[in-house]
Amino acid sequence: MTTLTQPSPLRPTLGPSISGFPFPFTDDTYRYSTNVQPARQPVATPAGLWGTTVLDLDTDYERDLAERTQILAADPTRHAVLPHMRPAAWDTMLTLMRELAQAYPADFTLHREGKRWHWHNARLGISAEFVYGDASTLPDEPLRFISRQVQEDIVLLDQRGGSLHADAGVVTFAADWSFGFDVGMTFLEIHGPVPRIRQEGVITRAHEFLQRLQPHRPYRRTNWTMTIGRRLDVSTERYPEWGPDRELIRLVDDEEFGRLVHLRVEVQHLVRLPDSGAILFLIRTYMLPLEELATVEPWRTRTAAVLAELPADMADYKGIGKYKDRAAEWLTAYPSTPPATPAP
Ligand code: HEM
Repeated sequence: MTTLTQPSPLRPTLGPSISGFPFPFTDDTYRYSTNVQPARQPVATPAGLWGTTVLDLDTDYERDLAERTQILAADPTRHAVLPHMRPAAWDTMLTLMRELAQAYPADFTLHREGKRWHWHNARLGISAEFVYGDASTLPDEPLRFISRQVQEDIVLLDQRGGSLHADAGVVTFAADWSFGFDVGMTFLEIHGPVPRIRQEGVITRAHEFLQRLQPHRPYRRTNWTMTIGRRLDVSTERYPEWGPDRELIRLVDDEEFGRLVHLRVEVQHLVRLPDSGAILFLIRTYMLPLEELATVEPWRTRTAAVLAELPADMADYKGIGKYKDRAAEWLTAYPSTPPATPAP
């Protein structure tokens, strides 16, 4: 018997609150664009607010990091630091610790005494005392150490010879790509498979923008796709486990369809690291099932419009070509939220 992806045993069907969901569509049609904006600017939505911090911790923090630990243990290719990126790995660790301590002071503390740094993560019960740059003072490689305390995936890019090279990272929640395959590739090579973006100048503009990025002035952008089941790790490596769901979803009834199909949004931050000069690329993944998305009326109608209009080459690249029209129809047929009736 064939079964559709079940939620991971680590993960309940329902995710964190809808109020922080970064709904990505600003129009009834969607096309690729560079779409960068300064980080830390709150965005009000009909359901709540997102975007006040660079790192976002939610009620899935412990679960997501337990899942990352399992994935890293099972597949070491999800982590890489090429030798020339070791200083950037330390730079990333300290930058992210500072972010956490500043944004969530009740849970994270960082302070310095002479050469020694003291770090405490109360959410996970992790304490460390280290000397910056001295590997013998940390229990793990610095990039992996900090990746196990933030929900974001991490890629580090080295800037040399007018190009950006993805030479380090920890990526356990990739949406249909392989970090292990991409390590060492340039920014332009990595984006080679994406339709339209080279001809439309999106990726060359992004490339120039990234090379001019300044320390202490982080930017962010969103990207989106759809995922069947609440599954964070839809990497190329695990395609045999989740790929067949794209066919099998045709067989489920409408109730199951709305429960299983998720709008998957990435909030991506772009940060110039202050000491090493490398670029830190953070990818935070959010998923909202259609059945929840549809309860927010402006999101229901806009997502239906975007999916109905999305050109076939973009839908196929995103891997949603086989079910995006049904998703649009499902959302259109969902009963619209009645306007509030005034009290008698
Ligand atoms: C995919 C644009 C930064 C890695 C994509 C896609 C677009 C895009 C339009 C296709 C997404 C989709 O259809 O779902 C941009 C822009 C950026 C940026 C405008 C900066 C302003 C980065 C950075 C990295 C990165 C810094 C880090 C190496 C990737 C990867 C994919 C991707 C791995 C998937 C490629 C594949 O199919 O193998 N990007 N991106 N992007 N991007 Fe970027």
